[in-house]
Order: sequence, then structure tokens, then C-alpha cells
Amino acid sequence: MPQVVTATVAPARRLRGRITVPGDKSISHRYAILAALAHGRSELSNYAPGADCRSTLACVQQLGVDVTTDAAGVVTLLGRGLGQLRSAGGALDAGNSGTTLRLLAGVLAGHPFASKLVGDESLSRRPMRRVMAPLTEMGATLEAVDGHAPLTIHGARLHAIHFRPETPSAQVKSAVLLAGLHADGTTRVTEPAATRDHTERALAEFGGRALVDGRTVSVDGGQTLHGRTLAVPGDLSSAAFWLVAAAMRPGSAITIDDVGLNPTRTALLGVLRRFGARVETTIASTTAGEVRGSVTVEAHTAHAIEIAPDEVPGLIDELPAIAALAGGGADVVVRGAAELRVKESDRIATIVHGFRALGYDADEAADGFAIRGATRPHGGVAVAHGDHRMAMAFAIAALAAEQVSRIDGADAVAISYPAFFETLPRLVAP
Ligand code: S3P
Repeated sequence: MPQVVTATVAPARRLRGRITVPGDKSISHRYAILAALAHGRSELSNYAPGADCRSTLACVQQLGVDVTTDAAGVVTLLGRGLGQLRSAGGALDAGNSGTTLRLLAGVLAGHPFASKLVGDESLSRRPMRRVMAPLTEMGATLEAVDGHAPLTIHGARLHAIHFRPETPSAQVKSAVLLAGLHADGTTRVTEPAATRDHTERALAEFGGRALVDGRTVSVDGGQTLHGRTLAVPGDLSSAAFWLVAAAMRPGSAITIDDVGLNPTRTALLGVLRRFGARVETTIASTTAGEVRGSVTVEAHTAHAIEIAPDEVPGLIDELPAIAALAGGGADVVVRGAAELRVKESDRIATIVHGFRALGYDADEAADGFAIRGATRPHGGVAVAHGDHRMAMAFAIAALAAEQVSRIDGADAVAISYPAFFETLPRLVAP
């Protein structure tokens, strides 16, 4: 059994400071994969430092791409060209990373050899039929264990499809678009709701093209991609924990610099405004189609928050942080978020158990949760269940408690934000 690492979080009256956060996880995965499929050299700075994006690098390396990381964390990849990856010769380990597994499934469906993608215990519980169905329709053969990893992909010559997923998912959309690059004809994906569009934007940056028409994205097969030098913006989903902390502790103000502000990722800022926080964004630049700049959040008032089902796709990774707004004394209710049950943990169950353990009054629903902010929580021991975003959400929720709390499994932050627990005390103000 791996050792459980516990973090201690003391109550904090106010948080103040100005920081940057690690590079965006979603964008890093896409840049690494497109760099692998491009001709020539790509240099990626501020590449996400967590274990998930390292899994992607290790996989593309195993597929024949030369990958080096220098002391400053700049990742250099020598791409092999579209459809030119080499058989890995052994299982490809996506670790905890759904994005690695699903996006690479799309890429490998178009390569004429068999590949096996495996993951850790959590990833092996997550649903894969959502990528297996469209990739099978395109002509590949996929085998899994009751719809779960290990996933074996027998790549083939693919043909274009028009795919209409039932569940909004940027991972599924991206898997199909990446397969579409390897297919004959024009592949289309029409989504039931908008999801993050980093694949579309990154493709243009690497010299390819994705056409966007409302909720439909299309890519032509056989495009030629070229290596690029790119800087990844900070991850707003990591910044989310600090922004929520700043909103819910009176007297707090936190600025995050050089963070990605892609409009498909910023719905949290609207939620923080509804809660009553003062939120200011300053756009600094747009690089590689991605808007980046600074965000400042200052605590002001605390209004109850209700997240409606149609808001969920835009907030999917921020809902654990949003739960912690209850620490500001207002109720938080989330509905229409059954997708949370198939994330790195069953996030509905993990949130409700963890918040209760910290002394919050919390209720579980099939498709969401309610956390009441009426009474100040006493603090306690919350268990992260191997889920990085849960460890961070509990840490923020614990700041509002009366007593010191413990987060069991705090080491899960290594997935996306290795320095999270070192950063926390730096933001606590006297
Ligand atoms: C991601 C898409 C989302 C998100 C995940 C990253 C991506 O997953 O929750 O953390 O990079 O495409 P789904 O596609 O399953 O919604």
C-alpha cells in the first residue's frame, strides 16, 4: 500500500498575494500531442509540471518521438509527422490522466498497428465507451474490459464521420478530431454544449485547420503540421482554488498573473461575481489563439450560489473549488452534474463526505450536491481519494474552519499542482 500523505491546514482569516500558477494542463497535453504529429522541432515553455502531462510526454516518447526537458522545464519534441508514430512495443501508461488516454486513443486509431493504453486504478474505472464508439465507427477496432481501460486499439485506415456525442466532453471531441486528422475526408463533431476549444486553437497554431460553425467542428484528414515554439499560459483551473479562497475569506485579495483566459474556461469568474466577489481581469496578450492575462479577486459579500445544469460543462473542473465557497457563509447547490461521478474520483460522493468530515452540512444528490454555509465548520480530517482537485478543494474549505484540519491523500496535488501546499502559507496574510 502506498503511504498516505497528510497535509495540515490551519484556519486563515485573510489571504493576500500575487502569484502565477503552473502551466495549463489541457493546453500542455494538446501541444505535446500535436508536436508529436508535426514535422520538426517544437519547444514548449511553461509546460504543466504535474504527473498527468508527464504521462503524455512519456507516451509520445515511447511512440518514437524524441522528447527532452531542460532545467528550466522547457520541453523540446522532435515530431515524426502525421501518421508516422512508431509502435510502442509495450503498454502505454496514461497514469491518472483521462486526457492522455482518450486523446491518444484518437491518434492511435489512425496508426496501422496495435497499441495498448493502460492507466492507474482510478483511470481504469472511468468510462471509455464514449471514445470507443466513434473511433470504431471510423474504422478502428477497440477492445476494453467492460468499457474500461486497459484499452487495446487496432489502428486502421480511417474514414470521416459526423459524430454527435450525447455528453459534452472536450476529451471525446478532441479524440475524434485527432482521429479525423488521420482519416479520409472531413470529420465533424457536433456537441450538445460548448466545451473547451484548445484542440481547435492549437491545431491552427501548428499550421493545421479546424473549422468551427456554431457547435460543429470539422477537420480535414491528411493535414501537414509543423513544429512550433509556444508558451503555455497558467492554468485557470488551478488558479480557481486561490480565487475561491480570496472570494470567501473577508478582507482577502489575490491576483493571479499570466493565466489562461480562454472564454470556454472562464465561467468561474461569473460565478464568483454572482457570489458577490469583486473580480477584475486584465488581458495581456493572445498567443497561439489563447487569451492570457491577470485576474484579481477580492472578497466582498457572500450570496448563495446555485449552479444550473446548463452551466456545468463550462465549470466541470471548477465545481470542487466552487463547493468551498460555502466557507464564506453562503449555501452552494449544484445540479445536473452527474459527470462528476466519473472524474478522478466520484466527485459528488468525495465532496459530500469530505465537506461533512470538515464540519460542513452537506447533502448528496444523484446529479449534484448542496453544501450549507450557515454555521462555521469546526474542521476535521477530509480524505482526497487520490483526487488532486479534491485535495485542493478541501484545503481551501478548511481555511474557513475553527480548528486545524487534515487532508489525507494531499500528495494527489502532484497530478496538476505539485507546489500547491507550499504556495498556501505564502498567501495567508496576518
Ligand atoms: C479536459 C476535459 C474535461 C476536463 C478534464 C480535461 C480536456 O474532461 O474535466 O479535466 O483537457 O479536454 P471531459 O472531456 O471528460 O469533460
